Amino acid sequence: MNNPQEANVQTQSAASPTQIKVWDILVRVFHWSLVISFTTGYLITDKFPLHAYAGYTIFALVLTRIVWGFIGTPYARFSAFTYSVQETVQYTLSALHMGKAREYLSHNPMGAIMVYLLLTMLLCNTIIGTMLYGAQQLEGPLEGIVPTHWDEDLLTAHEIMAKALLTTAAFHLSGVIWASWWHRQNYILAMFTGYKSAFTRRSHREGSGETWTAEERARHQHR
Ligand code: HEM
Ligand code: HEM
Repeated sequence: MNNPQEANVQTQSAASPTQIKVWDILVRVFHWSLVISFTTGYLITDKFPLHAYAGYTIFALVLTRIVWGFIGTPYARFSAFTYSVQETVQYTLSALHMGKAREYLSHNPMGAIMVYLLLTMLLCNTIIGTMLYGAQQLEGPLEGIVPTHWDEDLLTAHEIMAKALLTTAAFHLSGVIWASWWHRQNYILAMFTGYKSAFTRRSHREGSGETWTAEERARHQHR
């Protein structure tokens, strides 16, 4: 199932757009479990071990997603959403100028930056949190390993990183809403169903020159 064209394209009637299975079950479960555990961890910071368990869940989810980024289904692989600087600049400029921003089936170049940032920051803050848990509360796997007098610095780092994460997640959500409007495609629904349309209403209607077939898009993405 390494060929997205053959594996994922379900051709419907000539009038309706082609639906392509983009997000597999692992990506969808990963995303919504991440949203739940991140919200729980962020909102409940005074109840232990609940906060720590929410954090460990995030750690396990992110590690699983990283492995899936190498061995997973075609659109979930990092190779499907790793872009050159030139392509990222091009996309960003056309998006900012409300130009003809090309639509991507996997994460678009700006979305991909957010995804990499979020995964990295989540991983870092779960590690810092676990160190803090050991130093401050003498609990968790790093208890006895992290010096107790690091607790204040670790708390500061954990707080700053948590705020930075919330800010990045807010940019991520705004980006998703903006792109959904711009490309006339409900990306949030796609994160539940797994399916995206190969031809969006906007590109279809306006004939922007970006109405690729699924095969063309997939070929481009897997170049
Ligand atoms: C991405 C995951 C995490 C987020 C977003 C997060 C967020 C937060 C926030 C917002 C605070 C409150 C900081 C403040 O006092 O202003 C906090 C405190 C804390 N977190 Fe986390 N956390 C995460 C993961 C973890 C993990 C995995 C652990 C430990 C296993 C942990 C242990 C702690 C501890 C010990 C405190 C200090 C509580 C206190 O001083 O009352 N966190 N965290
Ligand atoms: C209710 C709030 C949220 C909504 C509606 C939402 C929606 C989405 C959507 C639609 C995508 C796919 C975008 C695309 O098609 O390119 C996505 C991807 C992603 N989101 Fe969110 N998101 C939310 C909150 C969060 C939060 C809080 C985090 C982490 C702190 C997060 C982390 C991610 C990550 C890591 C991906 C990449 C998924 C993957 O490739 O496996 N999201 N999100």
